[in-house]
Amino acid sequence: VTGAREASLIQDDAKFRRLIEISRESTYSVHDVLDWSEQIPSDVYWMSPELLSLHGTPHFAALSEGQRRELSKWEFINYCSVNMYGERELVAAVLTRLYRPAFRTASEYFHHFIDEENKHMWFFARFALQYGGKLYPDKRVRTSSYENDAVDDFVTFAKITIFEEIGDYLNVAMMKDVRLPPIIRELNRVHHSDEGRHLSMGRKLLEDMHRSLRSACAADELLAVERYLKRYMINSVETFYNPYAYLDAGIADAYRVRREVIALDSRKSHHAVLLNRIMSFLVSRGIFSSNSLYAEEDCS
Ligand SMILES: [Fe+2]
Ligand SMILES: [Fe+2]
Repeated sequence: VTGAREASLIQDDAKFRRLIEISRESTYSVHDVLDWSEQIPSDVYWMSPELLSLHGTPHFAALSEGQRRELSKWEFINYCSVNMYGERELVAAVLTRLYRPAFRTASEYFHHFIDEENKHMWFFARFALQYGGKLYPDKRVRTSSYENDAVDDFVTFAKITIFEEIGDYLNVAMMKDVRLPPIIRELNRVHHSDEGRHLSMGRKLLEDMHRSLRSACAADELLAVERYLKRYMINSVETFYNPYAYLDAGIADAYRVRREVIALDSRKSHHAVLLNRIMSFLVSRGIFSSNSLYAEEDCS
């Protein structure tokens, strides 16, 4: 395994070179893509109501139309915050691997990835600060790294891809939602157009890396990785249930509300929708043994 890792883990193929080409053609100045003079009227949704964390629950049914719009404002500020922190973490993970021999063939593309994520962090943070006056604190669960480099690298890029897939589902839904203000639709569109390439990179890296992981790890280790990544999926979707956002929206007893809604089957079904594309990919490539998100938890 050690010998193999001195060479690149990642096959240098045409698909990869194409991503670099498109990135060069699609480059933009982050200061020019959004109109920051736009004012957001008080009577609009900031995030599609169907995407709100309380949607489909008795708590949502009890809110007035005005309260729902207020909730959508603070959940969108939370969405920007979650994206900024998530991207900060994934840029750090990619930076530590830049020009490492195992990732040598990916380094050229990593530069584009870092450049684009740097722009995204800037506009998510700027939006949250300008329109919401704050970024919410980072509540993402800190996770330890694996001692085995092959496992650690694989898990790192799997987490990046899972995080980006969840974000992309929300981007696509919001960029098309005409109820939302132009700047919010546009921010989602700009993000989505870069993320398509990142997701393509993620899938390629996962396929290449899983090949070497299969030869280096026993079946029970692979299953432990699957369980860990499913826990990560759950933690990631749960960052959207932010009690501070509920409090800002005037919802009393925010922590109780969070506890109650997170456990609802209707919300778990929504989590499965958010994760559907990445889950299908991981199962179809034999990286996951099943697409059930909560089953392992129930029997442990
Ligand atoms: Fe991004
Ligand atoms: Fe990305």
